[in-house]
Amino acid sequence: MIPYEHDEWTDFSLPENREAMKEGLSKIKSELGREFPLIIGGERIETEDKLVSVNPYRKDQVVGKVSKADKELAERAMQSALETFETWRKWPVHLRADILFKAAAIIRRRRHEFSAAMVYESGKNWLEADADTSEAVDFLEYYGRQMLELDQGKTVISRLNEKNEYFYKPMGVGFIVPPWNFPFAIMAGTTVAALVTGNTALLKPSEKSPVVAARFVEVLEEAGLPPGVLQFIPGDPKEIGDYIVDHPKLRFINFTGSRATGTRIYERAAKVHKGQKWLKRVVAEMGGKDTIIVDKDADLELAARSIVSSAFGFSGQKCSACSRAILHQDVYDHVLNRVVELTGELKIGDPADPDVDMGPVIDDIQFNRIKEYIAIGKQEGDLLTGGETDDSQGFMVQPTIIAGVEPEARIMQEEIFGPVVAVAKGKDFDELLAIANNTEYGLTGALLTRNREHIQRAREDFHVGNLYFNRGCTGSIVGLQPFGGFNMSGTDAKAGGPDYLLNFLEAKTTSEGL
Ligand code: SER
Repeated sequence: MIPYEHDEWTDFSLPENREAMKEGLSKIKSELGREFPLIIGGERIETEDKLVSVNPYRKDQVVGKVSKADKELAERAMQSALETFETWRKWPVHLRADILFKAAAIIRRRRHEFSAAMVYESGKNWLEADADTSEAVDFLEYYGRQMLELDQGKTVISRLNEKNEYFYKPMGVGFIVPPWNFPFAIMAGTTVAALVTGNTALLKPSEKSPVVAARFVEVLEEAGLPPGVLQFIPGDPKEIGDYIVDHPKLRFINFTGSRATGTRIYERAAKVHKGQKWLKRVVAEMGGKDTIIVDKDADLELAARSIVSSAFGFSGQKCSACSRAILHQDVYDHVLNRVVELTGELKIGDPADPDVDMGPVIDDIQFNRIKEYIAIGKQEGDLLTGGETDDSQGFMVQPTIIAGVEPEARIMQEEIFGPVVAVAKGKDFDELLAIANNTEYGLTGALLTRNREHIQRAREDFHVGNLYFNRGCTGSIVGLQPFGGFNMSGTDAKAGGPDYLLNFLEAKTTSEGL
C-alpha cells in the first residue's frame, strides 16, 4: 500500500489544466437540469416532490432536480440500512477500504467534472472547487488507510494461560447530515467514515447542494458499494430530519452545519425512545467566529494577505473563515490599509470565469442575513470597503471590512457566514488574546508574530481546535491538520485525523482462559 499523500491541487496556470477544467464545465453545463432519484436499498426512486438546486450566480438557472424523501421513504431507508448492516458489518475491512480507494481513483480521473458541478451549484471559483475535490479524494484515501490500521486492534497484555484481545466493531445505522459549504469534501468524508468502519448509513445531503452528493453516490456505486449500505435520501430537514434523529434504531449521527441545528440534534438525540437499546452518539461540527491576531512584530504583508484570503475565500462561507481580525495598535493602521488595498484588487463575478476570486453567496436566506449584519456593522464600526449587495441576477455581496469595532459588538460575536470581516484593536498581546478568546466558539484561529514566546502562549491559551501560526486560518488538509473545534464549534471530532474513525466504532475486549 502506498503511503497516504495529500492530493495536489490543480495548477491552473498550465494551459492544459485550464482546458481540462473548461471541458468539465462544458460537460456539467450540458447536463444542467438533470434529474436525480433517491436511492434506497439500491433501488432508484423518483418522487413528484423535488429539491430544485439553482446556480447562486444565476438564480434562474436550474442545476438539477433531486427527488425528495418523506417520512415513509425515510422509514424504508432505515429498514434497508438495518438489514444490510447484518452483512456489511462482516465484510473484510480491506474489501471495504478498497471501495474507498477505487472511488478516489474514479474521482481523480474525473476531477474537473466534480469541481465544475460545485462551480454551478455552490458558486465556488475554480481554485476553491478544485480544493474541495482534492479534499474529498483525501478523505477517501486517508480513512481507507486509517481503517486498515485500526483493524489490527490495539495491544493489550495477555498472561500465562490467558489470552486477551482488544478490537473495534461497527456500531449500526448512522445518519449523515453534511453542510452545503464543502458540498463534496465534508459530504464524502462524513459518509465514507461511517461506511468504511462497517456501519450502514442514511445520507441526507444539504438541500442547497444535493447534486454534487447525488454524483458522488453514483461514484460509490461504480466503485462497488453493495446496494443498501448507503441510502441516499435528500429531503426537507423539517420533514425527515427529526424523524430519523428520533428513530429508536438509529445508532449515531454525524452532523456538520449551524450551531442552532447542531444543538437541536444533540438535545433530541439524548432522549431514549421506546425500543431503543443504546445511547446515540452524536458528532456535531458547528460554527465558528474565527480570529486572526496580528502582533506588533509580525510580517505585516503576510498578515494582510492572510486576512484577505481567509476572510473572502469562498465568500467567507467557511466555518473556518476569518471573521475577526485583531490588530496590535502599533501596526493597526498599516495592516488595515493594506487589507483594504488587497481587497480592492479582488475580482468579483461569475465563478465559472477562471480569473474570478470571489463569486456569490449561496442563497437568498444567506444573502438577506449577511445584508442585515452589514447594516448592524455600519452602526457598530466604520465601513472601510464593500457593504454593497445585489441580488438582481445572483446573490452578490461585496467583500466588506468594518473596522474600529468593540469586542462585544454583535459583528464580533455572531457568526455571519459571508464576506464580512470585523476589525478590532488591542494595546498589547494580552489584550489581543483576550479579545480573540471572547467568543462562544473555538474553531480556528491564527497568530501572526515573530515572537516565539507569544507563539508558546498562544499554544496554551488561544482556545481553538485549529490554531495556525504565520498563515491564514482556513484550508486544513486531511491527515496534515485534523480539523474540529472547541466550545460551541462542536464535539472536536477532528475530521481527517487519526482518531476520527473511533467515533463510529465500539471497542470490544475478549479474554480467554487457556
Ligand atoms: N477544512 C476546512 C478549512 O479548514 C473547513 O471545513 O477551511
